[in-house]
Amino acid sequence: MQLRTIDYSKAKEILKIEDLRVSFNTYVGEVKAIRGVDITLYEGEILAVVGESGCGKSVSFQSVIKLLDSPPAEYKGGKILYQGKNLLEASKKEMQDIRGSEISMIMQDPMTALDPTMQIGNQISEGLRRHNKGMSKAEAEERVVKMLELVGIPDPDKRLKQYPHEFSGGMRQRVCAAMALVSSPKILIADEPTTALDVTIQAQIMDLLHDLRKKLNTAIVLITHDLGVVADMADRIVVMYAGKVVETGQVEEIFYDSWHPYTWGLMRSMPKLNETSKVELATINGMPPDLFMPPQGCAFAPRCEYAMKVCYEEQPPVFPCGSDSHCSACWLMDPDAPKVKQPFKKDGEE
Ligand SMILES: Nc1ncnc2c1ncn2[C@@H]1O[C@H](COP(=O)(O)OP(=O)(O)OP(=O)(O)O)[C@@H](O)[C@H]1O
Ligand code: SF4
Ligand SMILES: [Mg+2]
Repeated sequence: MQLRTIDYSKAKEILKIEDLRVSFNTYVGEVKAIRGVDITLYEGEILAVVGESGCGKSVSFQSVIKLLDSPPAEYKGGKILYQGKNLLEASKKEMQDIRGSEISMIMQDPMTALDPTMQIGNQISEGLRRHNKGMSKAEAEERVVKMLELVGIPDPDKRLKQYPHEFSGGMRQRVCAAMALVSSPKILIADEPTTALDVTIQAQIMDLLHDLRKKLNTAIVLITHDLGVVADMADRIVVMYAGKVVETGQVEEIFYDSWHPYTWGLMRSMPKLNETSKVELATINGMPPDLFMPPQGCAFAPRCEYAMKVCYEEQPPVFPCGSDSHCSACWLMDPDAPKVKQPFKKDGEE
C-alpha cells in the first residue's frame, strides 16, 4: 500500500476548474468536447486523470494554460481559478508569466511543444531567463545542462546546440520534460509523459516527478492510460467520460470502492496498488457518444448494463460516496435506485 502524504482535511486548493465548457467549431459543426468539468487540485498532490481516448483529458488541461488555438477552440463557460484569478480571463501577458514558471505542461505530443527552428538549449533557457530576471546566459545554460542530464539525455552540453528534428521521439519527450521542470513550477501537468519512452527512462521521469513533489510541494496532474503508474504514483484519481468527470476519489476509493459503472469497466484490469508493471485501462464494449450531439442523459447509458429509464432522460448529478474526497455522477447513487456495488473484490478477482 502506498504511503499517503496528503491529509485532505488540511490540504490547500491550488487550482479549481469549475463547470468548464469547451467546444471546437469545425466545418461540420460544434464538437462539445468539455461539457461542464469540475476538478480541484491540491498543493503537493499527484492527481491522476484517466479515461478512454477522446474523453477530454488533454483539452481540459490545455485549457488551464490556454494552449488551445482559438478558433477552432471556444471557451463556452466556466472558470479556472488559480490563486484567486480566473485564468480564462487572464491577458496574454499574464498567461505568459504563469505558463512555464508557475504552471507548466509536458505535452502528449512533444513536437507541438518544441519550436523546430530553435536549438533546444535556447528553448529551455529562454523560458528560464524570462521568469528569472537577472539570470545570466551562462547560469541558465548550466541549469539547462543539469536538467537535460537529469532527464537522461547523454552529452547534454553538446546536445543543447541541436534542433528538435535531431532527436528521436523519446529524446524529444525528455527535452519537453526538462523544459517543463526547469523552472520548478507550482503545478506540473504531465500528459502521457512517458508513452514514447523505454521502461528505464519512464521510471527516471516518474522518480523526477516524485522528487519534485517532495522537495517543492509541486502539485502534479498525471494524465495516463497506465493503471500501474496510477497505482504507484497517484494520491487521487479523476475519471472522465465524454467531456465530463464521472467519478473522483482517493486512489484506494477508486481502485477498491468505486461507485461508477464506467470506472468498474476501466478498472477490470486493475493492478495491485504499487504495482510497477504496465497495466493499461481495460477496453469497454461499445463506443463513446458523438460529441457533436451529446445525449441528454448519462453519456454512458448505451454501454451501461445498469442503465435505467432516468439515465436516458436526465444527466446524473454528482453524489457524495461516503467521504469528502469521493463522489460519483451516477443515478445508482440515488436513494431510490436499486443497490448495485462494484462487481469485483479487493484483490481484483471477479
Ligand atoms: N482541434 C480540434 N478540433 C476538433 N475536435 C477536437 C480538437 N481537439 C480535440 N478535439 C476533440 O475533443 C475531444 C477531447 O479530446 P482530448 O484530446 O482532450 O482527448 P483525450 O482524453 O486527451 O484523449 P487521448 O487519450 O487520446 O489523448 C475529442 O473528442 C477530440 O476529438
Ligand atoms: S447514470 Fe445510469 S447509465 Fe450512467 S453510469 Fe450510472 S447507471 Fe449507468
Ligand atoms: Mg490526450
